[in-house]
Amino acid sequence: MKAILVTMTPEHLNIEALKQAGQILKDGGLVAFPTETVYGLGGNALDPKASMKIYAAKGRPSDNPLIVHIADLDSLPAIVKNIPSKASALAEKYWPGPLTMIFQKTDLVPLETTGGLDSVAVRFPSDPIAQSLIRFAGGYVAAPSANTSGRPSPTMAEHVEEDLGDAVDMIIDGGPVGIGLESTIVDFTEEIPVVLRPGYISLEMLRETLGEVRMDRGLLITDSKVHPKAPGMKYRHYAPKADLSIVEGREEEVIARINQMAEKAREEGKTVGIIAAEETAERYPVGIVKTIGKRSEEETIARHLYEVLREFDKCQVNEIYSEAFYTPRMGQAIMNRLLKAAGHKIIKTQEEQK
Ligand code: TXA
Ligand code: MG
Repeated sequence: MKAILVTMTPEHLNIEALKQAGQILKDGGLVAFPTETVYGLGGNALDPKASMKIYAAKGRPSDNPLIVHIADLDSLPAIVKNIPSKASALAEKYWPGPLTMIFQKTDLVPLETTGGLDSVAVRFPSDPIAQSLIRFAGGYVAAPSANTSGRPSPTMAEHVEEDLGDAVDMIIDGGPVGIGLESTIVDFTEEIPVVLRPGYISLEMLRETLGEVRMDRGLLITDSKVHPKAPGMKYRHYAPKADLSIVEGREEEVIARINQMAEKAREEGKTVGIIAAEETAERYPVGIVKTIGKRSEEETIARHLYEVLREFDKCQVNEIYSEAFYTPRMGQAIMNRLLKAAGHKIIKTQEEQK
């Protein structure tokens, strides 16, 4: 591994290491760092060469724009044109935090950073390590999730090492992240704000502040002809190596169906993986069962989703069956990621009984 590894916690920052990291970014290098959502792969957002390095390190198509991270509201006007009052209200309520907003960009932001678009995505993270790094780097850090393109986003530094240990100059290990799913993205370049990616901040929370909010059509329709507006949402992401299917329906029927499929697979000599909530995990006698979190504490499911998908890549399983997790507040974000991981393969227990 080429990267320098430094360890700290949000409560005890290592200022010397953060200064060094900031200097690496100013010099055009790459630093992976924790945020409250997932780990980011940072480069200087105002340096086109640094953005190109980010795409190369991730193996990411360069038409897929990066999010510019700031650590101060005063940094915003230099990079975006006209901030609608609704966006200011949202910033007031949820920044710093797991929210990304899209605006028209100014000339300060290179097209390399925005994948050729004249808009720019901006986020002000709440993680103190991220904030300090951004300040030492000069105020503008472009950062996609710090995974190889197509793999689950990293929720701990070990995941970053696995994917990008040879491609970055430094990795800051700040421990496991708090949220575990990428930020909610809201596009303010249209009359009515549009959600391009669901996240911790739900549609209901956004409506409380913004009134009318639309969901991007590409999120609602699984037709491959309807492209999501966020270029990154069109790729089949987070795909585990084994075939993943989601089983949906009433709890008892889901358990029965997964057990039936696991039994059949075993008879065929296959190994099955099962993703289950803590409440039901003990009800699967066949296969490798991984507990994702508690339905009664939905944040735990969000936090562990990517970790469980990565763990299954290390086990030799042929097929994975997952329960569905339409939990009350974060269910939309959890299922958005899980459905993408499954390539939208859903088995519905109810329909079959009709
Ligand atoms: O939580 C997060 O947002 C994490 C952490 C590191 O901050 N970052 C992250 O970045 O998830 P990334 O690059 O993995 O996802 C950014 C998404 C992509 O789907 C991209 O296409 C979309 O945001 N995006 C960025 N700029 C955009 C723009 N100007 N217009 C439309 N979509 C944009
Ligand atoms: Mg990503």
